[in-house]
Amino acid sequence: MKSVLVTGAAGFIGVNYVRRRLEVGDERMVALDSLTYAGNGRSLEPLVGDRLDFVNGDIRDTELVEKLIRQHDCGTIVHFAAESHVDRSISGPDAFISTNVDGTHSLLKAARNCWLSGDAMPHRFHHVSTDEVYGSLTASDPPFSEENQYQPNSPYSASKAASDHLVRAYHHTFGLDVTTTNCSNNYGPYQFPEKLIPLMIVKILHGEALPVYGDGMQIRDWLYVEDHCRAIELCLEKGVAGEVYNIGGDNERPNIEIVHSLCDMMESRILGSEALAERFPDCPASRGDSNRDLISHVTDRPGHDRRYAIDYSKAEAELGYVPEHTFSTGFERTIDWYLAEEAWWRSVMDGSYRDWIDTNYQGRG
Ligand code: NAD
Ligand code: DAU
Repeated sequence: MKSVLVTGAAGFIGVNYVRRRLEVGDERMVALDSLTYAGNGRSLEPLVGDRLDFVNGDIRDTELVEKLIRQHDCGTIVHFAAESHVDRSISGPDAFISTNVDGTHSLLKAARNCWLSGDAMPHRFHHVSTDEVYGSLTASDPPFSEENQYQPNSPYSASKAASDHLVRAYHHTFGLDVTTTNCSNNYGPYQFPEKLIPLMIVKILHGEALPVYGDGMQIRDWLYVEDHCRAIELCLEKGVAGEVYNIGGDNERPNIEIVHSLCDMMESRILGSEALAERFPDCPASRGDSNRDLISHVTDRPGHDRRYAIDYSKAEAELGYVPEHTFSTGFERTIDWYLAEEAWWRSVMDGSYRDWIDTNYQGRG
């Protein structure tokens, strides 16, 4: 059986995908990640073994990618690696163009060189993309379908849109077997606490102000990460080369409602557990106050998209995809994970995991 090259495997969705495949699959995987601030090799380290290799390297290094494809006999690439945070793309767009556009192109070149020169071999390049490429919806617009026009509004979404076009072009022009999924906002274990949900969880525990951008009425379609990983599996199994599938969570909610729910759910956890109240004495609920008192409306994100929503009827009809998690099951699991894995989020927040990376991976490729 051929191996699978998973790029960005040390990031949020990549770690969840690799963990899940180790449980439910039987393929060998090569995890390629350059361990940016968002990648945590330590999340993968315990999983490295017979079925998983980890390589600290950059997707922009075409030669390295080609070497890995040949050396490990990879027949599939699942491409997660990216700069993924919209706010960072506003303060510093360059890295987004470099990794998301040039990096994706480098992977496509390597895949073409390995898979299409000489005797073409069966292969699949799966590109993981975002609903943000479609722009912003009004309250009355229908959800994004695969037919929506691309109208990316941030440097992040523009860079992802460019990468989607390159993937499409490599199929159309060179015959590379590609599929793309465009999905909505993921949440769950191992998400870096700069994104809304983990950021709010950690801030509630520390009793810090919860920065809600603008009026907080921006809407996202929240997707539990395990459902997203399942959708990718289905796409690899049943997706048709050259096709694009939208993946959503059936869970449209305004940001302020998400923040209220997190405040309230964490309040009931703390009120029900003296041990938790002792561990997190700065959390308002630990001293009998309301977590909602922490909410602070701050200046809005420039160019902030108002609403995303996903029509996943094509994925449902052609892949058999439907989300299995509801708002409440997904949120309960996520909160449980962050309460149990305090050491993980503390190490990514204080940067101490970087010392471990420097010790373990300096100079290795
Ligand atoms: P993330 O930021 O948590 O992880 C990205 C990973 O890519 C990190 O481990 C990082 O070290 C690695 N990486 C970055 N640049 C690299 C490079 N040049 N070479 C090799 N590795 C590199 O991101 P995520 O949330 O896990 O998102 C994964 C993918 O899914 C991205 O392509 C993103 O655009 C897409 N996506 C994410 C969401 C979401 O809600 N998180 C939704 C839709 C689509
Ligand atoms: O829609 C898919 C996209 O979802 C992915 O492609 C991106 O990689 C991922 O980061 C995410 O983008 P968003 O910008 O929607 O996610 P973020 O968690 O940054 O913000 C979610 C919403 O919450 C958004 O409307 C901005 C708002 N927000 C965010 C932060 C970090 C706040 O109000 N306050 C905050 O502090």
